[in-house]
Amino acid sequence: MSNSNNFFNGSLSEDWWKSAVFYQIYPRSFCDSNNDGIGDLRGVINKLDHLNDGNGGGLGIDAIWLSPFFPSPQADFGYDVSDYCDIDSDYGTLDDFDKLVFEAHKRKIRVVLDLVLNHSSDQHDWFKESMVDRTNSKADWYVWANPKPNGEPPNNWLAVFGGAAWTYEPLREQYYLHNFLAEQPDLNWYNPEVREALAEVVRFWMSRGVDGFRLDTANYYAYDRQLRDNPKRPAGSHPLEDGQEANPLSGYITKYSKDRPENIEFIHFLRKIFDEKANFTSIGEIGSSEGLEETLKLGADYVRHGDGLHMAYTFAMLSKEMNAEYFGHVVGFTEQMIEDGWPCWSLSNHDCTRMVTRFNCFAEREGFQQMMLLLLLSLRGTPIIYYGEEVDMEEYPITKEELRDPQGIRFWPEIKGRDGCRLPFPWDSAAPNQGFNTGKKPWLPAKNSLSLDQAQAYPESSYHVIKEMLKIRKTNPALQKGKFRQILLEGDCFVFERKTKDQTLLIAANFSTENHSIKLPLKVEKDLTPGALKHSGSIKNERLSLPACGYFLGKV
Ligand code: NOJ
Ligand code: CA
Repeated sequence: MSNSNNFFNGSLSEDWWKSAVFYQIYPRSFCDSNNDGIGDLRGVINKLDHLNDGNGGGLGIDAIWLSPFFPSPQADFGYDVSDYCDIDSDYGTLDDFDKLVFEAHKRKIRVVLDLVLNHSSDQHDWFKESMVDRTNSKADWYVWANPKPNGEPPNNWLAVFGGAAWTYEPLREQYYLHNFLAEQPDLNWYNPEVREALAEVVRFWMSRGVDGFRLDTANYYAYDRQLRDNPKRPAGSHPLEDGQEANPLSGYITKYSKDRPENIEFIHFLRKIFDEKANFTSIGEIGSSEGLEETLKLGADYVRHGDGLHMAYTFAMLSKEMNAEYFGHVVGFTEQMIEDGWPCWSLSNHDCTRMVTRFNCFAEREGFQQMMLLLLLSLRGTPIIYYGEEVDMEEYPITKEELRDPQGIRFWPEIKGRDGCRLPFPWDSAAPNQGFNTGKKPWLPAKNSLSLDQAQAYPESSYHVIKEMLKIRKTNPALQKGKFRQILLEGDCFVFERKTKDQTLLIAANFSTENHSIKLPLKVEKDLTPGALKHSGSIKNERLSLPACGYFLGKV
């Protein structure tokens, strides 16, 4: 079997990723092919037709991002990697992986892997060697530091998942750094041997046919080499993520433990390797806890000038707040900052409350969700749909007994963790476990209120809205690459334009539960709004009327 990209011959442009629609799969929760309760790679293969069957069937997705499936003790469900060049037996084998790439490419779906290069698992051979003494060949592969004279950790840095970011290792009589769990020791990116080893990991997957990487916590690679204390956050300043006040880390500005200016040099190093393969792409996870504008500025810094990341994954739309003004500000500020870079958007992921619950959208939940999804697919920038958004997956109210996520276990009940957004995909309302497997208890309960068969049977479901919109995107180049211009922001309504040399499109949305009527400064020639959408806008006597949570797309 060949993993070459022959399937894309003639149809592939170097910047395919700018017009592609991505879909994030959390493999543990997508489909369980061998009925052990855990989703796996064969399960993903079995369900590829749902995403795109290559012949116009399925949603019409162009690329998948798969959360990690590498060998892992699963302390953080795969974000703790113990071998970067293999597949965890929970998920399958390298043969399964090759088959997945082959079957995806056959359907013109590109494959993006999630590389966790900031930290490995403490069970990785590199760390097992590094920890035994200060002289072994991997002694400097992680971030080791002496205790303070009183035996305390070297500085005040805290871990994202609770406690100090340092754990003491008696064999070395030193502490090691871990920005996340103690089971996730940070690699020492300043060591050229480490960088070379990681470059080999990148090449390993590139040679197996992968089309790009999502880079986990790509702004954490560098740290202050003087190990200075992080400053305390001044009272009254607001960290970005909602509900994080319960985490003591939010009391500090993480100036020295992440977001170091020199981090970009490590990204330049990676970019040179990515450029060894034609048409390769990368999406770095870049989030600042210093507020909305900081996070957008930081993301933009990583994607300008063509020598950094291809795209930076932003947290800006993972907010609890969502209204016309917020949306307009995020998009406008991004456009202002990003210069020659390319934006990347998503509304949910495996780390945050499901959008339909998070935006607890007045009395119009599905309407609001559909409007948001259509806006996502109308913005300048690459959209990433999170698995389950096509069936309006909701946040599941996890109980203490059902908890699996280390974050929830550590901070329960103030922070309930991320299990609620990682439920098994509901394929079939009539089947056991909603069709996720054939009956063995799934690792998290299969309990979404809507299943795919029901969504497919209902003409106005998000499934049909997305599917139709992806077809519209394919035939309207301005939606893919057109310039963005804000036309108006009036109360609850946001109107903008996407424009290429040959086409101008107008997009409008109403974020409220009231009807609105707007006088447009442009004449709309043709209504292109997906017919499946329930809350569609319409033009009458040169006014656009937008119902509650309404969306409109028109040709000018
Ligand atoms: C970000 C990932 O998205 C999250 O799931 C993980 O826990 C942390 N990085 C640590 O790798
Ligand atoms: Ca399985």
